[in-house]
Amino acid sequence: MLNIQDIRRQFPILSREINGKPLIYLDNAATSQKPQSVIETEGKYYHTLNANVHRGIHTLSQLATEEMELARKKVQKFINAEHDYEVIFTKGTTESINLITYALSNSGTLKEGDEIIISYLEHHSNIVPWQMLCERTGAKLKVIPINGEGTLDLEYLEKSLTEKTKIVSFNYVSNALGIVNPVEEMISLIRKNSAAWIVIDGAQAVPHFKVDVQKMDCDFFVFSGHKMYAPTGTGVLYGKEKILEIMHPFHGGGEMIETCSFDKTTYAGLPFKFEAGTPNIAGNIGLGAAVDFMNAIGHENLQLHENALLEHAQKKLLEIGNLKIYGECALRTGVVSFNLENAGISSDVGMILDKLGIAVRTGHHCTQPLMNFFGIAGTVRASFAVYNTLEEVDILVEGVKKAQRMLS
Ligand code: ALA
Repeated sequence: MLNIQDIRRQFPILSREINGKPLIYLDNAATSQKPQSVIETEGKYYHTLNANVHRGIHTLSQLATEEMELARKKVQKFINAEHDYEVIFTKGTTESINLITYALSNSGTLKEGDEIIISYLEHHSNIVPWQMLCERTGAKLKVIPINGEGTLDLEYLEKSLTEKTKIVSFNYVSNALGIVNPVEEMISLIRKNSAAWIVIDGAQAVPHFKVDVQKMDCDFFVFSGHKMYAPTGTGVLYGKEKILEIMHPFHGGGEMIETCSFDKTTYAGLPFKFEAGTPNIAGNIGLGAAVDFMNAIGHENLQLHENALLEHAQKKLLEIGNLKIYGECALRTGVVSFNLENAGISSDVGMILDKLGIAVRTGHHCTQPLMNFFGIAGTVRASFAVYNTLEEVDILVEGVKKAQRMLS
């Protein structure tokens, strides 16, 4: 059993007040709060280690390099990648997906008539970069539809897979609804019916449960650090070595070359080929500290607690009446997304909750196609982290009741 009060004490921000009320932070799918260990690790880097990495023979540079490479190894273990050099540091999920799309077009991997499959459940960051890649290459985008509950139509996926399919990219967990997609079943379906490369957006998965990229057998796995207790501006692109090797770089510059001359430049090996310029050294080391924090809690404990929060929230919210939860019957994690019927719009509810010190996200959650599918402009989204409590959920529910009274 987790001692949630002990965990809460590790997060300095949780003791502050908002609008005269104790902060109840339920916007973790947007970004999580940071524990003291992560804040201190970043600070310690600037206090005692600050130097550029992979560039100096001087002691500080070597110490900084060792710390950052240690963080890479921690991330490798965290997702069970085969090699540490399959872990590329980026500034987040969005950059990781853009990196893949630009590396693919730089490599000439896609041509006119090729097909890319995504799904209706995607965040804009897993839609727009693919649309842009299609514009650059003449490839065509196909979209896996969903049913009324928000689950994916796997028959459509199976029928759509052909020799023209070059990429299939979808999220493990929907940021807007919290729906957990049957990733392993989908990957085996894709492998049986095509030779497509598979990209998994794991941004909303890694904060909530254990991920094993080798067992999953995806080709790429991307996520952000800041949603899993790490600093903002951190993220990861995992790719299978054999694929990363044949992909061309995205950014050119320092650090990513083996030799540079005006006649010809050759590129560095993995992971540096994809890490041009000075990286977010403090942030990446902080990401390593966030991995330590999550490991100390243990994925099973974390999942049990967050599932209890979600179940409690769903039950209590439904008891209010005249309230719709999106994806209510689907397998979900970390998120409850809802609207009050005939009682204002989601941002009205969000503003009333904010007055009570409760932070939720409202609006389209960067998933406009999904919102259009449901015929709505947005939802109220409460999203959980390990430091949230059942009491906080009860206060949220009372806040939603108050909003309903005020807005009806
Ligand atoms: N992708 C983040 C969210 O869902 C920002 O809120």
